[in-house]
Amino acid sequence: MIGPSVWIEVDLASLARNVRAFRRGLRHAGSAIMAIIKDDAYGLGMPAVARRLWREGVRAYGVASAQEALALRGVLPRATILVLGCVHPSALPGLVRARVRLTLSSPEDVRQAARAARHGRAIAHLKIDTGMGRLGVWHEDCDALFAAVRAAAGRIEVEGIYTHLSHADAADERPTTVQLWRYRRALARAACWGLKPKLLHAANSAGSLRFAALRLDVVRPGLVLHGIDPMGRGLSREYRPVATWKTRVASIKSVGPGRTLSYGGTHRVRRATRIAALPVGYSHGYRVAWSNKASVLIGGRRCPVVGRVTMDQILVDVGHLKAVRRWQEVVLLGRQGRERIGAEELARWAGTIPYEVQCGLSARIPRIYKNIR
Ligand SMILES: Cc1ncc(COP(=O)(O)O)c(C=O)c1O
Repeated sequence: MIGPSVWIEVDLASLARNVRAFRRGLRHAGSAIMAIIKDDAYGLGMPAVARRLWREGVRAYGVASAQEALALRGVLPRATILVLGCVHPSALPGLVRARVRLTLSSPEDVRQAARAARHGRAIAHLKIDTGMGRLGVWHEDCDALFAAVRAAAGRIEVEGIYTHLSHADAADERPTTVQLWRYRRALARAACWGLKPKLLHAANSAGSLRFAALRLDVVRPGLVLHGIDPMGRGLSREYRPVATWKTRVASIKSVGPGRTLSYGGTHRVRRATRIAALPVGYSHGYRVAWSNKASVLIGGRRCPVVGRVTMDQILVDVGHLKAVRRWQEVVLLGRQGRERIGAEELARWAGTIPYEVQCGLSARIPRIYKNIR
C-alpha cells in the first residue's frame, strides 16, 4: 500500500500521560481540568483527542465557536462544553438546547442569551476582562453585566465567572498578579449581586503551571496537554510531545561546490555534498521562515534545511550521513533516535510561538492516531 508522503502521527498515549503529569503538577489544588480543544484540538483532530481526554477523566472542554461546540456535543454527549468565543444570536437557541455553556461578556450578550432561552435556561460563564483587552466586560464595568443577569429573571444560570491572562508566560509576574487582584475584586462585586457561581477559573497552561494562586475550581490548559511548553523552553520529562510530523526522502543528488540551491539562490554549496529533496513545503505548514535555519532528522541525525522552502518541497543537506536512501523516513517535528526537534525550537527558528507551529500544520496532512486503545 502506498502511504502518504507527509503525515502527522498523534500519540494518544502521550496525550494521556500529559494529562496525568499536568494533574500531578496541580499539587492537591483540586482544580478540575477544562481541556481547551478549540481549533480542532490545536490542529490534531478534535474527535480522537476529545475521546481520549474523556477516558482520562476530563469532563469539561473549552472550544472557540458554536460549530465546534455542537460537533463536540456529538462526540461527547455528557461533557461540559464552554464556548470561549462570541456567538452569533442565530446560533444561540441550538447551543442552549445542547446544554452548551455560553461566554457572556456584555449586557447585550446576556439579553440575547435570555431571549434564546425563552423556554428554558441558558447556562453561562460570565467573562471579566482584567487586562487582556479581548473578550469580557472591563473589570471596572462588571456591575453592568451582573445587573443584566439579574434583569434576565432566571433565564440565565451563572455556572462560572472567569477571566483570561495576558502575561502568564512572561518572566514578569506582576501583570498576572494585578489581573488576579482585579478578578477577585470583580468576584466580590458579583457576590453583592447575589452571584456566587460554582466554577471560578482564570489559568491557561502557563498560568496553571506557574501560579498556585490561579489553581481555582477549574483550570483551562491547552498547549501543555500536547507536551509543548507555552514558555518555549521545553517541559519536564514527565511530558511527551503528542505530535510527530513526518515525510520521506523523495530524491537525492550530488551537488558540487559553487552551485546555489532553490529560489533566489540563498544557499551556495561550499563543498561537494549530497542534497535530498523532501516533499513538504509551505503549503503543508513548513514555513518559509525556516529556510536556511531549521533542521530535520534523518537516521537520527540533524540535517540542515538549505535554500528557500518552496510550496511543496524543501532541500536538506545529507552529505554528512553515511547512508541515506530514497523513501527513508524523515522527522520534521518530533523525536527520531536520540534527537528531537520540538515545536519550541521550530518556533524560535521562525521568530514565532510554538502555538503557531502546531496550529499551522495544514489540515490536509493526514493525522494518524497511535495508541487509540
Ligand atoms: C480563554 C482561553 N483559555 C485557555 C486557553 C488555553 O491556552 P493554553 O493553550 O495557553 O493553555 C485559551 C487558548 O488560547 C483561551 O483562549
